[in-house]
Amino acid sequence: MAERRALIIGASRGIGLGLTRELADRGWHVIASQRGPSEQLAEVAKGGRIEVVTADVTDTASLEALAGALAGNSLDVVLVNAGIMGDESQTADNATADGVAEIMMTNAVGPARAGKLMLPLLRDGGTLAFTTSRLGSIAESFGGFDLYRMSKAAQNMLARGIFARHAKERGVALLSLHPGWVQTDMGGPTAPLTVEQSVRGLADVLEAKHPAEHRFLAYDGEEIPW
Ligand SMILES: NC(=O)c1ccc[n+]([C@@H]2O[C@H](COP(=O)([O-])OP(=O)(O)OC[C@H]3O[C@@H](n4cnc5c(N)ncnc54)[C@H](OP(=O)(O)O)[C@@H]3O)[C@@H](O)[C@H]2O)c1
Repeated sequence: MAERRALIIGASRGIGLGLTRELADRGWHVIASQRGPSEQLAEVAKGGRIEVVTADVTDTASLEALAGALAGNSLDVVLVNAGIMGDESQTADNATADGVAEIMMTNAVGPARAGKLMLPLLRDGGTLAFTTSRLGSIAESFGGFDLYRMSKAAQNMLARGIFARHAKERGVALLSLHPGWVQTDMGGPTAPLTVEQSVRGLADVLEAKHPAEHRFLAYDGEEIPW
């Protein structure tokens, strides 16, 4: 089988770093992005099969430069994983315009821009994925985490637009992936899943063949209602 190739945007630590290692261990060539120098990613990249690049999803010029540098690739998977929790003390009642802008740019608009700019690097029939969150499901919401939920629901909506207008016609599957609640800087030490458990599931989902549909899937393959 030809070597499978993936681009992961937001791979300096946490789930993105873990998935970079997991896919490389499974024989994939992984192009892994950091915003600034990541010692953890440099360490993982020593194992081989990993190429480190730089991008910030809120900096369009950096995304365009990355897409230009990688032009000519025919990737099997592009995953836009970057995300922030934002200032949890900000709710819809008291949020500042800056707080709203930061989380919407980082979790929704920036990832959508990144995904669309990287789409030409994907082979027809490949998979474009975004790390979203179950907290972005409107169907399941019981409130709380206002800005984070809003940003991930918005990301899901923008992903649907990319699918309908740009991905479907090329047979590209679009996955909005919930990694589970995971022990990372964001998830905290009391989360039920280790990074290894989450990324094993995510890698299985990314390795599977998917129809050209936009689906909201958890790390264990469970379908989540929008
Ligand atoms: N952990 C959970 O329980 C959980 C649950 C549901 C969904 N998620 C989602 O999973 C994804 C990864 O989360 P995590 O738990 O691994 O969080 P994390 O440990 O805080 O890592 C976040 C990653 O996103 C990168 N990032 C943040 N802002 C960025 C930007 N503007 N441009 C490029 N990269 C940026 C970070 O890079 P730097 O190192 O440069 O900051 C880091 O690599 C996020 O989208 C998150 O919302 C996590």
